[in-house]
Amino acid sequence: MLQLLGAAIWFILPAYVANATPVVLGGGAPIDGGKLFTDGRPIFGAGKTIRGFVAGLVAGSIVGVLQGAATGQAYTYITLGLLLALGALVGDLLGSFTKRRLNIPRGGAAPVLDQLGFVVFALLFASPIMVLRWEVILTILLITPPIHLATNFVGYKLGFKSRPY
Ligand code: CTP
Ligand code: MG
Repeated sequence: MLQLLGAAIWFILPAYVANATPVVLGGGAPIDGGKLFTDGRPIFGAGKTIRGFVAGLVAGSIVGVLQGAATGQAYTYITLGLLLALGALVGDLLGSFTKRRLNIPRGGAAPVLDQLGFVVFALLFASPIMVLRWEVILTILLITPPIHLATNFVGYKLGFKSRPY
């Protein structure tokens, strides 16, 4: 049980770091350039910035490099780190795109999508090279929403986020 939890967190860590880093290091110019979609609403919204995306990608990839150094499997973990970080950030963008289409404003809550979207895409991006037992995948999907909500609450208390979710 504890081993399963450890395996899940160890594997998905680059995605978590990629998702959390923009909250601290993000800001500045939005990825969509402030442009509106055909429905007249923002494409992604002002909460998705270039700096946040790049910072998340770099930070998540660094985790992969460290995991590679720790295990001696540099190639595998560096590739996984890149794919997991990129998948998490693209998934987060697609989540915002979906929210805007549903007329949910930037920062508005979209339960499940907010907590799980990024991790599903991280797993999809990594799937070509990952060998994971189904129990580990299930564990990742089960623990991510509570972990995401808990870290967001801490981020809110520390003043990094304007909303506790
Ligand atoms: N952030 C960023 N760049 C990104 C992703 C996030 O700068 N690519 C920063 C923004 O300051 C954002 C914060 O991290 O407000 C929290 O991220 P998130 O909750 O994903 O964005 P929201 O502001 O809630 O916007 P949305 O409704 O589109 O999810
Ligand atoms: Mg949000």
